[in-house]
Amino acid sequence: MNAISTIGVVGLGTIGSQELALWQRSGHQTVGYDISEDQVEAARDIIKANSGPAPRLTTRITDLNEADVLILCLPNLAPTGENSMAAFDHFSGDARALDEKERLWILASTLPIGFTRELAARLGDQGRLVAHAPERFDPGRGTELGEIPRVVGATSAEALNMTVELYKRAGVTTHPVDPVEVAEASKLLENSFRLVNIAFINEFAELCRRIGITAADVIDAAATKPFAFMAHQPGVGAGGTCIPTMPRYLLDAAKESGLKMPILQDAVTGNQQIIERVAEHLRGLLSASGISRGRVLVVGAAYKPNYPDARASAALAFAHGLAAHHSVLVYDPIVDAARFPKDIELVRAIPDERFDAVVIALKHRNTDIAALRKLSPILIDLVRGAVEVSESISTHK
Ligand SMILES: NC(=O)c1ccc[n+]([C@@H]2O[C@H](COP(=O)([O-])OP(=O)(O)OC[C@H]3O[C@@H](n4cnc5c(N)ncnc54)[C@H](O)[C@@H]3O)[C@@H](O)[C@H]2O)c1
Repeated sequence: MNAISTIGVVGLGTIGSQELALWQRSGHQTVGYDISEDQVEAARDIIKANSGPAPRLTTRITDLNEADVLILCLPNLAPTGENSMAAFDHFSGDARALDEKERLWILASTLPIGFTRELAARLGDQGRLVAHAPERFDPGRGTELGEIPRVVGATSAEALNMTVELYKRAGVTTHPVDPVEVAEASKLLENSFRLVNIAFINEFAELCRRIGITAADVIDAAATKPFAFMAHQPGVGAGGTCIPTMPRYLLDAAKESGLKMPILQDAVTGNQQIIERVAEHLRGLLSASGISRGRVLVVGAAYKPNYPDARASAALAFAHGLAAHHSVLVYDPIVDAARFPKDIELVRAIPDERFDAVVIALKHRNTDIAALRKLSPILIDLVRGAVEVSESISTHK
């Protein structure tokens, strides 16, 4: 194929808009394509803050004709939350409308094992150069995409070399692997490793709660070991569209090869149960005060700290669940209000009101714990695994 001059990014959500910005900042001509006009508009806001040539943003597939590379940042979940590669099916179908010049396809999304080869086969002549460079961006962390090394695999040595050379141009360190399934599995391993640890630390936090110690104190103590311990924080469970869901692709691969993975399976199911366990604990504390339907403040509604996205948020699911039994108010100063469900009341500032209980599900930077403590005789800080109850209430174990 000819030299690469224009880079096309497909899917302009959380990841695609970052990928587009990376290539813009490194001085490349870029085209960003999405089927959603709203997403194109949102991407416009992100890229206008960047140096480099302004990308062409479009919902018209034929605008991708000029692209020599297509970097696919498409979802791997259905809108209802199940694992699904339907967006790739749609895009690979729509891409038949493009001129027949040869392009390098780079799949940046998290993929089921075997998917890169499957898509390459489906693309026929257009699928000679297909690589997988799974995205590891962590929104809200403050680390730029280009600072995170990229694992790269491909269906041919030529596609692998081209992808490595391309990311070099943007100053991104790469870790080439072979076969391409190593790249697919490495991303699923990262997500699964995180889920297993989160599920375990939440299970551990529940034990601490029952024996009357604070999980964070134990974790801080263990973290003084200079090797072989990695501190994880408890909370209301892993949320978002990656950690709780991508391990299911690894379980699918295990099933196909006749293997059971009970540890991972338990982490997936255990993560879903955290919400109910916390709600049960709260019910016990409230009933010790003679309250069956209480006024509860839930602190935090985004899916992770310091980031406004509430899609698939465990904190929000927790608040929803509680609202079936209690009167619930949610306090989150940064969550995206435009996409916030209308059936839950949201406030931006710490309310001037008394509550039967306050539950800190998520802690954004500068959360004022002292001010929250004054609002109720019961404060459950899930992030520390701490339960503070005034002496007038007998504790529930
Ligand atoms: N969000 C994260 O923190 C994160 C981190 C690492 C990896 N990833 C992976 O990156 C991938 C993308 O995630 P995201 O969070 O950016 O998703 P997203 O939902 O924010 O964005 C996906 C975009 O793709 C668009 N789209 C859907 N179907 C399309 C089609 N047929 N053609 C063109 N555009 C289409 C949607 O309109 C949307 O703008 C996923 O595989 C995810 O697992 C995400």
